[in-house]
Amino acid sequence: MAKQTDDNLIALLTPQEKIALTTGSGSWNTAPIDKLGINSVTVSDGPLGLRKMVEGGTLPAVALPSAAKLACSFDMETARKYGVAVGEQARAENVDVILGPAVNIKRDPRCGRNFEYFSEDPLLAASLASAYIEGATSQGVGVCVKHFAANNQEYGRLVCDSIIDERALREIYLSVFERIIKQTNPCAVMCSYNKLNGEYCSQNKWLLNDVLRTEWGFKGLVMSDWGATDDRVKGIKSGLDLEMPQGDVTDVEKALEDGSLEAAELDVAVRRVIDLSKQFKSMSARSVDFDKQRDLARKLSSECTVLVKNNCGLLPLNKSDKIAVIGALAEAPVYQGYGSSKVNADNHDSLLAALKQANVSFTYAQAYDVDGDNDDELVAEAVAVAQHADKVILIVGDKPDTEGQDRDSWSLPSNQLKAIDAVTSANSDVVIVLQCGSSIDSSFSHAAKAMLIDYYGGECSGQALCDVIFGDTAPQGRLAETWYLNLPKTADDFGKDYHRALYKESIYVGYRYTSTANVDVAFPFGYGLSYSEFKWGAIAITHRDKTKITVTVPITNVGKFVDSEVVQVYATNCDCNSFVERKKLIGFARITLKPKEKKTATIVIPTSELEHYNVGQGKFVLNGGRYIITVGKNVEDNRFTDEYAISGDNNTEDMSNELACYYNIDRDFCPSDEQFAALYGKSFEEAPQAVNVSTPLNDIGNNLVAKIVKARLTRNMDNKSAKYTLAMPLRSFVSATFTREMLFTVIDMLNGAVFKNLWKLFKQYLACKKAAKQQPKTGK
Ligand code: BGC
Repeated sequence: MAKQTDDNLIALLTPQEKIALTTGSGSWNTAPIDKLGINSVTVSDGPLGLRKMVEGGTLPAVALPSAAKLACSFDMETARKYGVAVGEQARAENVDVILGPAVNIKRDPRCGRNFEYFSEDPLLAASLASAYIEGATSQGVGVCVKHFAANNQEYGRLVCDSIIDERALREIYLSVFERIIKQTNPCAVMCSYNKLNGEYCSQNKWLLNDVLRTEWGFKGLVMSDWGATDDRVKGIKSGLDLEMPQGDVTDVEKALEDGSLEAAELDVAVRRVIDLSKQFKSMSARSVDFDKQRDLARKLSSECTVLVKNNCGLLPLNKSDKIAVIGALAEAPVYQGYGSSKVNADNHDSLLAALKQANVSFTYAQAYDVDGDNDDELVAEAVAVAQHADKVILIVGDKPDTEGQDRDSWSLPSNQLKAIDAVTSANSDVVIVLQCGSSIDSSFSHAAKAMLIDYYGGECSGQALCDVIFGDTAPQGRLAETWYLNLPKTADDFGKDYHRALYKESIYVGYRYTSTANVDVAFPFGYGLSYSEFKWGAIAITHRDKTKITVTVPITNVGKFVDSEVVQVYATNCDCNSFVERKKLIGFARITLKPKEKKTATIVIPTSELEHYNVGQGKFVLNGGRYIITVGKNVEDNRFTDEYAISGDNNTEDMSNELACYYNIDRDFCPSDEQFAALYGKSFEEAPQAVNVSTPLNDIGNNLVAKIVKARLTRNMDNKSAKYTLAMPLRSFVSATFTREMLFTVIDMLNGAVFKNLWKLFKQYLACKKAAKQQPKTGK
């Protein structure tokens, strides 16, 4: 076939073919149009190791450490290697586009997907995700950056409206995406489930067309998150090219027919799907070396482990020490989270297995049951084992975090807290190893001499821990999120309302809050100790002009381990008329040094990092005035400060009277709805609506039909599952046995027309039963 331009191709497509192209073909493919040589694109989760679903299950793959752990590397080369590994896995299984990385900001430690996300800081998250993307795409596969945007909680994620003032949106939540798009030009972006400032992201023209495409220059395709479509026609008009997975196209057909959707509008989406498929036309599979991948998973996990406490140099231990290992997670580790990023890792290890393999002798006690209540017997056994050992490795953590649910609590389960108490009283040389998806209340750490934060270490987490505990590899991680002593007061509202989440804290997310409000933390952002010792030479700003600042730090490894140091540069904008955070990360570099080795860390920072978003002008601006540049090992380390003056205008409006509570924040910072409304500038109340496809199950009313529907859809569920199910929109219950037609009939009944629809529903039910018998299942 002669090579045709896309315009010619599009002209050759029938309306049905065009419609087919803009929705999935099944769960993981786009539709092929064989007659025109348009091939199907295969997409697959997941960003933390491939999760390719095939008939009968998921293909085995290597589970790498979670993104939360990778982020602790503060190192682009590490992230690039990680991306290469995922790219190799995808390439080996003929996957064209990886559904990831997931780059949402960690707004609250209880978000169930934090383990998949990188950081609370947009610069750090974007730098690492960009390196990951460069690695993955070097293997010839594409990536789909997700979830665009402001999907920072799981409760009510399919309906919840993230209400964010424009400044915080631009500087924090969109900034991470903006940086990635501009730096890596990915082939696809996945819109998130939630609404953003009143409109579903899947049909948010401002977000998908005005910002992503017009402002940032994104040229690729936007696909929906799985089942995120509310109004497909509006989505097409607003820049959502591909609905995933395969959806009902009746609305699009009707709209084309009656002219409410113009052919040209559909063509825009069609062209982007064809463009995507052209990129992956000639990809062939390559084999992947699983052993090499596992070696990488082990190395990354050990290096990214964060040492947050090491009194008296307790770590590393000696293999000949009399060691007790305590905690059920030593046998059955939490090495990955659940949901769409869960890898079928058929070969995962454990700390106990790794210790045996390394010929380390130890005694073991379970101490707690991960699924159980307090068990005094288990604790007594653990105490006895601890008493007879010189050194204790006590491993704790909660059940795996998961997509679709937030954590119930910010603390470890009480049976584990009891075990920690008892074991640390029985032995003074305890190393706590903490496996968790994201930060938790770590106030128990005072009782132990040493503590390692392992996050989710991937399938080789046991060997990786063993390497760290005995010093074969130094833990080189730095915390990519704040470990609070107490959650901020603004977090009180988290996960309470599935209708909307008011981001009242505005820009004060994580360390931006703690550093500005002067709040004590358990472990600050950027924090991590080392096995080796480093000598920092004279820190200097060696270059400064209107466009960039260069910071240099000569560092010598004067200790005994190959180890890394992370230099972090923060800025304070002293003269801005708007409210500002006291510290903002503007640059960082990790350098790895052998013992006695010396290198100079050089960090070149564009002055655009000092900008803030001027809402009045609708753009980022660099205001004139003084900036304090701080260089240190973490956000609280002020070992070097220097002032830097920039000439220029100070045009940002001073709102210190109207928004006083945002200008002077302290530990009690917690704006009221009214104070937040003043910042947000619009009303966030929603007018009541009749029941429709996106009405949350809980909101369908209380007539008899509603009661039956709710009871049926939450049947046999525990309280938590019922709570999450009630926060789901009606459209998400459509299935092979409950069709869209049936849903519409039920909606009419919920809106009052009960009797006239009973017979209709019954007939639809019979038809659907018959059809279901004849059709194979195509669900996710
Ligand atoms: C998740 C996405 C994922 C998709 C496909 C959704 O539930 O939010 O992150 O890529 O499913 O599995």
